[in-house]
Amino acid sequence: MTTVSDTGHSAEENEQIRHIKRAYWTQEGIAEEYQYFAYKPEPITRLKNVVEIGFVGRHAVGPRVLDAGAGTCRFTLPLRQSGLDAVALDISAEMLRGGIDGAARRGQVVPGLVGDIERLPFNDATFDSVVSITVLRHFPQWPLIFEEYVRVLRPGGRLIFDMASNDQREFMVTHGFTENPDAPVFDPVSFDTGLSMDGLKKLSREHGLSIVTTTPNDFFNENRLLDALLGDVKEAFDKWLMELLAKPEAIEYCDLLALRFMPALSNAVASSWLIVLEKKPSSNPYEPAYRRARDTILTGSPEQNVNAILETCLGIRYNSCMRIAQAGLESPDARALFDFLRAELLPRFPLEACTWESGR
Ligand SMILES: C[S@@+](CC[C@H](N)C(=O)[O-])C[C@H]1O[C@@H](n2cnc3c(N)ncnc32)[C@H](O)[C@@H]1O
Repeated sequence: MTTVSDTGHSAEENEQIRHIKRAYWTQEGIAEEYQYFAYKPEPITRLKNVVEIGFVGRHAVGPRVLDAGAGTCRFTLPLRQSGLDAVALDISAEMLRGGIDGAARRGQVVPGLVGDIERLPFNDATFDSVVSITVLRHFPQWPLIFEEYVRVLRPGGRLIFDMASNDQREFMVTHGFTENPDAPVFDPVSFDTGLSMDGLKKLSREHGLSIVTTTPNDFFNENRLLDALLGDVKEAFDKWLMELLAKPEAIEYCDLLALRFMPALSNAVASSWLIVLEKKPSSNPYEPAYRRARDTILTGSPEQNVNAILETCLGIRYNSCMRIAQAGLESPDARALFDFLRAELLPRFPLEACTWESGR
């Protein structure tokens, strides 16, 4: 039987992945290496931090927040700065030390705890929110860790995490962008498990959770669909994009698109997604907005078609989102970025990816 936790690997391989990952994160010097990549001032990293930290900050409820697999406190510190009582937990003392020392240099105290996400050292219902970004997806036994997160959440509390997108993987196989590998290569270091919208709904139902929101993430970063679409021009595209994103107004405009429009689109448009669940079953089952647009008739230019999809997805929110997006374009840097994306990206982008869902 296939379950949401199936990794396609044997139990022994799963165990190997788990140990190799743990050994990796506890190496000496790992915190400096991670901090270099996680905080370097180049545009994609800045954009990633703006979008992800913004998302977590908007959705976490407090006061008590657990940052599980906190690493160098990329989320713990901003959560504390926003007034929440966030605690960092990580298996690696080295990673935590990097984060706590970094916070101290900014005059902030961050409480950190060495601990295992598979056996959280907390009573049931201790936290108002559990945040765990770039963690669960790297573990074959992630459903067990997920249960631990749910256990320590109070009723009404929130779980905020990310996953690779199985909807994108299926879209790419179905549309011939990638081969379906019969025998996946066993690579414990780069192991990255995925979840589809269907899988998320099943998981939420099984644990008495409701889906608050989901949004595709990392659109410009390691997006396999984008890489496949751009092919030979990928390098030049990235170079132009980085030049445009070097301006703060362009980053802000991307953040605005990520905030207003991305949650209306299917997870097939990006390789990963951000998810917020609440420990409270909803009486209205979650219906992702993109489903409404599946029958939209596309007969115009790429721009008219994408507007038709967004209008159907967003419904009554469309006009206010468009007004905000339009106001953002008053900055010439945001306008230059928008014109570039309209000219270089939109004509290549398969619009059916905006409404795709695995197993539909
Ligand atoms: C990719 S980093 C993510 C760090 C942070 N959440 C962020 O997004 O910047 C993954 C983190 O998970 C931690 N980790 C791995 N296995 C763990 C375990 N069993 N219990 C707690 N933390 C673990 C690692 O030490 C590492 O700091």
